[in-house]
Amino acid sequence: MSKKPLPADAQAKLLRSAKKVMKNAHAPYSKFRVGAAILLTNGRVFSGCNVENASYGMTICAERTAIFSAVAQLGPKIEICAVAVTNDHRVPCSPCGACRQVIYEFGPDATIFFAGTRGPKQAHITELLPEGFRLQ
Ligand code: THU
Repeated sequence: MSKKPLPADAQAKLLRSAKKVMKNAHAPYSKFRVGAAILLTNGRVFSGCNVENASYGMTICAERTAIFSAVAQLGPKIEICAVAVTNDHRVPCSPCGACRQVIYEFGPDATIFFAGTRGPKQAHITELLPEGFRLQ
């Protein structure tokens, strides 16, 4: 993928947004707080945290909270340029499979920034989700 890399200051800003919103997570069951921030091609940033439920399957991940919030605010024509994900355990945490599919829906050319075993990592969404599903 030949894509202009996100400048370091924009990366840092996105990560800061993810870390800030992580503090709002509702994670009493897993005790694993996650924060995500998405940068849209129009320059807007939206963030979200994981929100768990006593009925565990109702839990929503941080990435989807951020994306659904952006759609709720701006409508479905958003385009995700980058996503930053962070957690409060300082362990590697890339977006889960469901979130990868949702990122792909609105950001087929998105770059994902997340913690790796050897420091910060970045990957194109199609590396994380080859052959993402499309209805057309
Ligand atoms: N979680 C996220 O928020 N994003 C991910 O990509 C992976 C998992 C949340 C869901 C749950 O609240 C907690 O992390 C433990 O799985």
